Amino acid sequence: MGNGAVDPMSLARDLGLFLTPWLPYLQKAGEKAAEEAGKQVGGAAWEHAKLVWSRLRHKVEAKPDVKDALQNVANVPADERAQTALHLQMRKLLADDPELAHDLAALLDQARQSGYMVFAGQQAVIVHGSVYGLAVGDIASTSAAASGEQTHRPFMAPPLPPQGVLGRDDDVARVFDLLRLDDAAAMDVAPVALHGMGGIGKTTLAAALGRLEVVPTLFPDGVLWSSVGPRPTVRFLLEAWGKALGVDLVPERDETACRDRLRGALYHRRMLIIVDDVWEVTHGQYFMVAGPRCRTLLTTRESPIAHTLATREKTLRIEVLNAEASLALLRRLAPEVVSTDERVALRLCERLEFLPLALTLAGRFLASETDVPTRMQRLVGELIDRRDARLRLLQAEGRPGIDEDHPVSLQAILGLSVERLSSIDQDRFAMLATFGGEPLTWEINAAASVWECSTVDAEATVSGFIQRGLVERRGERYWMHALLADYAAEMMDARGL
Ligand SMILES: Nc1ncnc2c1ncn2[C@@H]1O[C@H](COP(=O)(O)OP(=O)(O)OP(=O)(O)O)[C@@H](O)[C@H]1O
Ligand SMILES: [Mg+2]
Repeated sequence: MGNGAVDPMSLARDLGLFLTPWLPYLQKAGEKAAEEAGKQVGGAAWEHAKLVWSRLRHKVEAKPDVKDALQNVANVPADERAQTALHLQMRKLLADDPELAHDLAALLDQARQSGYMVFAGQQAVIVHGSVYGLAVGDIASTSAAASGEQTHRPFMAPPLPPQGVLGRDDDVARVFDLLRLDDAAAMDVAPVALHGMGGIGKTTLAAALGRLEVVPTLFPDGVLWSSVGPRPTVRFLLEAWGKALGVDLVPERDETACRDRLRGALYHRRMLIIVDDVWEVTHGQYFMVAGPRCRTLLTTRESPIAHTLATREKTLRIEVLNAEASLALLRRLAPEVVSTDERVALRLCERLEFLPLALTLAGRFLASETDVPTRMQRLVGELIDRRDARLRLLQAEGRPGIDEDHPVSLQAILGLSVERLSSIDQDRFAMLATFGGEPLTWEINAAASVWECSTVDAEATVSGFIQRGLVERRGERYWMHALLADYAAEMMDARGL
C-alpha cells in the first residue's frame, strides 16, 4: 500500500479486519454508551477507528449491499463467509472510488504505524489497544475466494485397510464423544489422544474416524492428516498442510512461523486435524494449529505425549481386539485358515494375543500359502509354536522410523519403542523374559532382584516401560503383551544375558 498503487482487494481485506472489532460501537458512534464502550476497548485506537469510519460511512449508507455485509460481520465477527462477503463488497466500493481508496490506505498505514493494527507475517493479527486481540482469516483463503478460485478442501485421511475395521465400534463411539462430534457448535474443543502399544490399531482407528459419514458435514473444510513418526522433518509436514490449504509456507522463517501461518489459515475453517504417530511432545506441538471450530486427534505409543498434548482425561487407551473380532480379521485375510480348523485358528489368535498388526501380517502371509493345504497348516503350527516365526512376520509397506533397506518385520515395528530405552533399560527389558509364563507378569521386587538393583530403581525402570507402552499394570503385578515378551526373549538370547 503506502504511496504506490492501491490494491483494492488487500485494502478491502485490511479495512474489514481493522473495522471488525469496532463495528458494534461505530454504528452507534456519538451515543454515550457506545462512546464509553469504544474507549474502554481501545482508547486512541477507537478515535482512529472513528476517523476511518467517518470517511466511509456515507459511502456505505448509499450501498445497501455493503451495509448488509457490514451488519452480518457485526453480528458474527468470526463468520468467515460474512468476512469474505464484506471484503468482496468493500473491494467493489474501493475500486469504484480511487480517491476514497487512497485516503483509506493512508489511514490504515497510520493505524499500522501507531500499532493499532499489527501484522505478523502475511497473516493479519489486529491488536486494538491492549485489550482486543483478533486474528481473522488468511490472505490465501480470502483472495482465493475473491478470484473465484476453488477453495482448498483437502481430504487427507488414508484409506482403510482392505480387510475393513473390525471390533472398534465402542472405541469409535468413545472418540466421537471425547471430540464432541455430536455438538457441531462446540468451540475450542480440546485435542484428544489415542494411546496404546505398537500395532494395536491407533492409526487405523484414527483413519476410521476421519472417514465417518458425518465428517464432511461436520468438517466442510476437510480433513488434515500427518504421519509424524520418530524422526520427522516437521517443516516438510507443515508445508504439505500449507499446500493442501493453499498457503505457501516455503518463504517462512522456521517451523514456528509455519505453525503460526497455519493457525491463521485455520481460524475460520472447520477441519478435522489428525496427527498420527507422535514420538516427541515438541514435534506434536507444531501440529496444534486448530482454530476454534476445528477438532484435533493425535495418536502415540507414549503416554506422557498423550497426557501433555491432550491431557489424561482426553486420552483414550486402545486395547487389543476381542477373540471374535480377531478371528473375523483372520477369516477376512485368510479364510482357509479358519475354515480348515477353527480351533487352531483361534489358538493362533491367542498366541498373537489379539494384536491387530500381528493378526494382519500373519493373515496376509498365510493367504499366499494356501495352494498346498498341508504346507499352510504347517506354517500355522510354526506361528503358534515358534517365536522367531512370529517376530519375522513381514509388512510389505514401508514404515517411518525403519530404514528403507531393513525389513519391516513385526520385530522391527515393536522394536521402535524398545530402541528408545537407555542401554541399561534395554538389558532390563530383555531380562524380563526370564519370568517366562503366558501371560508374562511379575512383581516389582522380583524385577529388582533379577536386575540386581534397589526397589526404587526398579520402580523407575518399570515406570519408564509403562510410559513407552511396553508394559501395563495389572492389579499388584506388571504385565507384558505376549509378542513383546517374544521380543524380550529374542533380545535376551541375542545379548547373551
Ligand atoms: N480394527 C482393526 N480391524 C482390522 N485391521 C486392523 C484393525 N486395527 C488395526 N488393523 C491392522 O493392523 C495393522 C496395525 O494397525 P495400526 O497401524 O493402526 O497400529 P498402530 O497402533 O497405529 O501401530 P503403531 O504404534 O506402530 O503406529 C494395520 O495393518 C491395520 O490394517
Ligand atoms: Mg500408527
